[in-house]
Amino acid sequence: MGYRLHHYNHILPIYYHPFPRLFSFRFNFRVWCCSQSGKNQAQMEQVVVNGSESHLVVVDNPNLLQKKMSAIRLAGPAKLQVIADFDATLTKYWIDGCRGQSSHNLLQQEDPEYNVKRQKLYDYYHPLEFDPAIPLDKKAKLMVEWWEKTHALLIEGGLTYNAIQNSVAKATIAFRDGVTELFELLEEKGVPVLIFSAGLADIIEEVLKQKVHRSFKNVRIVSNKMVFDENGRLQSFKGKTIHVLNKNEHALDMAAPLHDHCDDLNGLGDEKSSLKKRTNVLLLGDHIGDLGMSDGLDYETRISVGFLNDKVENSLESYQKAFDILYLNDSSMHGVVKLASHLCSMESN
Ligand code: TMP
Ligand code: MG
Repeated sequence: MGYRLHHYNHILPIYYHPFPRLFSFRFNFRVWCCSQSGKNQAQMEQVVVNGSESHLVVVDNPNLLQKKMSAIRLAGPAKLQVIADFDATLTKYWIDGCRGQSSHNLLQQEDPEYNVKRQKLYDYYHPLEFDPAIPLDKKAKLMVEWWEKTHALLIEGGLTYNAIQNSVAKATIAFRDGVTELFELLEEKGVPVLIFSAGLADIIEEVLKQKVHRSFKNVRIVSNKMVFDENGRLQSFKGKTIHVLNKNEHALDMAAPLHDHCDDLNGLGDEKSSLKKRTNVLLLGDHIGDLGMSDGLDYETRISVGFLNDKVENSLESYQKAFDILYLNDSSMHGVVKLASHLCSMESN
């Protein structure tokens, strides 16, 4: 299930601090440099937090990361926002040995025939979603097909809000350890969190309600939003479909109606323009396409944190190049909590 150190039987242990000032006293890092022929050693640094083999962290360019951390910290929390993907980023990939369900997959329609049809689509398209051999333009077309067929089945099957509540109550879904702590810390520091998901907004709201048991005034959801008819049955989806590979198109602009909706709920004003003024970004994702979530912003400094949950061998190289910090093995969110806490602390370096 996880990616084990023994996959690198030529690993040499050395000690290394990727965030020296941040972690030198509080945390113990051990690093394994892989001496694979033809690979730059720095590219293969494996950082193990607190000596635990199950929480591997890869930092491809520690100097660049350090510079970004200093810049964000110097600018302070008033300039920072967090943009996080939902499925398999905020939520666990594995739960008690079973694959954690996504916001789409946890849905149980009243007519089980529709669940079977959607599962068949998942079985066909999900492996394609993470296949590094498929060119991005071709993959984007496949993802549009998948999302359109799935949403059509949800509408045709007449999904009700009641079914959503029941499905979430029975679902195999859980936030990564540390997510609530992260939201609390960011709320305390006044840093907004945008959950930007190609999943389903209504389900994510319900998951937050049922699994976190409290609301956060700094958390907003941008995702595919359902429209229900007068009988409480799903009638359509609002706006343009968000799938895993078009998060870059219009990015935050796509989110306007949902922000309005959230503003109504939370009584906060002119949020979109205030988000655009927060030019430092901490981005969390499990898919290369998640990096597009910040494209709508003219950001100054962005630290991207990736979670490579499965089939590590296939994607390690591309993911470690793409993300500033890469967590392997379905890691917890504790490292991100520490990072966010450092970025928001105003004490001198
Ligand atoms: P995310 O943007 O929050 O990660 O949500 C998108 C994930 O949802 C993506 O990894 C694929 C997954 N998904 C399903 O599990 N079932 C489905 O029917 C669809 C359309 C997507
Ligand atoms: Mg995801």
